[in-house]
Amino acid sequence: MVKVDLTGAREFFCDEGPDYARVSDAHRTLAERTGEGSEFTGWMDLPSRTIGTELKAILSAASKIKKNSEALVVIGIGGSYLGARAAIEFIKSPNYNLLPKETPDIYFAGNGLSASAMSEIIELLGDRDFSINVISKSGGTLEPAVAFRVFKEILEKKYGSAAKKRIYVTTDAERGVLHDMAVSEGWERFVIPDDVGGRYSVLSAVGLLPMAVAGIDIGRVLSCAASEMDRYNLRSQENPVWLYAGARQHLYQKGRTIEILSSYEPYFRYTAEWWKQLFGESEGKNGVGIFPAYAEYSADLHSMGQYIQDGPRRLMETVVSIEKTGSLLKVPFELGDRDGLNYLAGCEFEDISRTVARAVAQAHIKGEVPNISITVPERNEDGFASLVCFFEMSCAISAYISGVNPFNQPGVEAYKKNMFKLLKKE
Ligand code: PA5
Repeated sequence: MVKVDLTGAREFFCDEGPDYARVSDAHRTLAERTGEGSEFTGWMDLPSRTIGTELKAILSAASKIKKNSEALVVIGIGGSYLGARAAIEFIKSPNYNLLPKETPDIYFAGNGLSASAMSEIIELLGDRDFSINVISKSGGTLEPAVAFRVFKEILEKKYGSAAKKRIYVTTDAERGVLHDMAVSEGWERFVIPDDVGGRYSVLSAVGLLPMAVAGIDIGRVLSCAASEMDRYNLRSQENPVWLYAGARQHLYQKGRTIEILSSYEPYFRYTAEWWKQLFGESEGKNGVGIFPAYAEYSADLHSMGQYIQDGPRRLMETVVSIEKTGSLLKVPFELGDRDGLNYLAGCEFEDISRTVARAVAQAHIKGEVPNISITVPERNEDGFASLVCFFEMSCAISAYISGVNPFNQPGVEAYKKNMFKLLKKE
């Protein structure tokens, strides 16, 4: 389980602090599936449901891809993209493709409409053997759909009729253009369950197939997630989910409308992107919702630090730390000490970073930014699974506390209507 520490937030609490009776009600609504959107709460038992036949099928597809491909193009956007990228960057590395390894490179496409980004992936693929995993629950989202057309054409030109065996589709069980194409073409299919929405789908084939291709132990991710979902279901103030959801909602009621998630690890960048979508799309509706932002330290201390310390006091900060990063890099000793850094000689970077984090937290609290601290034990499969379950539970409970449906996204349609009109879609 992750640990939540509210020491740096308590002095900003008013009256009796977070209303745990409301947290408890929201938790009951979620667990008993009686709230709005309850038909989309299948993610709570998704890990245990996926262990078994589905896990075997995903592993077997991943092993085919690993055998016959030097690269995998993963096409998807939003919930059909961010989770897989988050896992690969968190557990493996943001530089995964550049590292010496036995597994295929992974390119993410279809998460935008930039012609140069897509052309660059085509160039990077070169004439290497590759496969495609196209992911879309609706099967009709424009960005991944056009990217799929582009990469499918390249694949078909390269392999002719054998291209079929290199296309893996993750979509709805019965509906949608992508589903229909996959059935008629005989492409291998994985299902996004009906009761799981896009941004809660990382522990289905959506996230698991790319993770497995990247060499992540998805059996371990799932078994850890299955037990974490149970642990985070505890109905008490010992549950870190209660502490986090309760604190952020309490602070929101007191005018803290922006939550900055911050971390000292570039490995965490895409987990933060995934978190932004999870919370932003789940909570921001009906005129309410905490605005989710991300800051990466210490880089952003030199860009956003001034605002955080001194700008309008609408911020709360949630700092995510990883107990063991696995790196023992130390600052070297230098004869003559010309740069004046010998006071740090022999110190591990990890310890320096922790000390800096303490200094930053003290400064931000003094600058009246409430500080919630989240600690993850390790940067591995267990740590990732734990973070996913923790944030998903916290998000759904938090959204129910503020009275909104955590599982719909009616506002996303507005731009799509205009876009299709301007693009003259029939
Ligand atoms: O959470 C959601 O439902 C969305 O963010 C979707 O994941 C995103 O819009 C992609 O949709 P689709 O998987 O249908 O292509």
